[in-house]
Amino acid sequence: MKMNSTFKVLAMVLMVAIVCFFLNDSISDKFLHASLAEDDSWFTRRFDKSVEPFLTGKQNLSMEAFDWWKQLQPLEEQTIEYYRAVADSLLKTFPAMSKGAERFGTCAVVGNSANLKDSHYGRLIDIHDVVLRMNKSPIKGYEDDVGSKTSHRLMYPESATDLDNVTHLVLSPFKIMDMVWLQKALTTGFPGNTYEPVRSTIQANKNLVMVLNPAFIAYVHRMWLRRSARYPSTGFLAVILALHICEEVRVFGYGADSDGNWSHYWEKLRDPKLGTGLHYGKEEYDVIRKLAVQQKIHFFKMSSPKF
Ligand code: C5P
Repeated sequence: MKMNSTFKVLAMVLMVAIVCFFLNDSISDKFLHASLAEDDSWFTRRFDKSVEPFLTGKQNLSMEAFDWWKQLQPLEEQTIEYYRAVADSLLKTFPAMSKGAERFGTCAVVGNSANLKDSHYGRLIDIHDVVLRMNKSPIKGYEDDVGSKTSHRLMYPESATDLDNVTHLVLSPFKIMDMVWLQKALTTGFPGNTYEPVRSTIQANKNLVMVLNPAFIAYVHRMWLRRSARYPSTGFLAVILALHICEEVRVFGYGADSDGNWSHYWEKLRDPKLGTGLHYGKEEYDVIRKLAVQQKIHFFKMSSPKF
């Protein structure tokens, strides 16, 4: 009899424990789903799949986007008619541009931060289908940390470098003159300067040239940076571009050093007051971190070394 009642008590305790366990699980599940739903609304409020990342000739640049874009670096005549004429001429010179954005599987976006130094991320970066880099970042001598593969390189005239025959040159245009420069630098040569001396010719495969759509740059500024700073950095544009064209995005080499400067992995900082240039580095970094928390990208963070 005594045995029986002890057994009953034990069975009751077990039942209560099991119910509590499942109840708890469903409560934490609810919290998880609630926070993911909230996260997802943060993402979906910003991400607009309908914005074409590349200039293809099929899309019309709205006057609102053009008016914002044309005041970024007002160096020359900036009418919509002139913009359209230059865009048409580019599309004739580089017919591959008309194809627009392809979709890719895994992509590594490699920023130029000094935090890549001694990271040994090179092999991990190289296993991606696509590796996006930007500006003048060197590879030779840094393979162990940054890898050796480059499928796309984002640049603008003032940051241009020669490319091999298999890398896509992705122009990030911040003024109409940048588009003129691209066309001339790959054909007859670009005479003169922009706001500083620029390369008059450049090596790249003409069939792999792409140009970011000014409407895409305006969208990144408006939706992803809430119009903070003057305009997005090339590196931030590369991250959002990857979100639009890749199934899986891994981000390396982003983050200022402990003095708040965008220092590089290959050189000692020349200007100790560089900060993050014209860009709002902290805001960009926070968005990248948030994308990682919400599992839209994988972010490989490192603290920056001192040189
Ligand atoms: O210096 P640069 O503009 O060539 O760097 C390319 C991009 O890498 C920047 O636009 C920025 O987004 C990112 N960067 C960074 N932290 C650094 C250096 C660069 O996030 N320390």
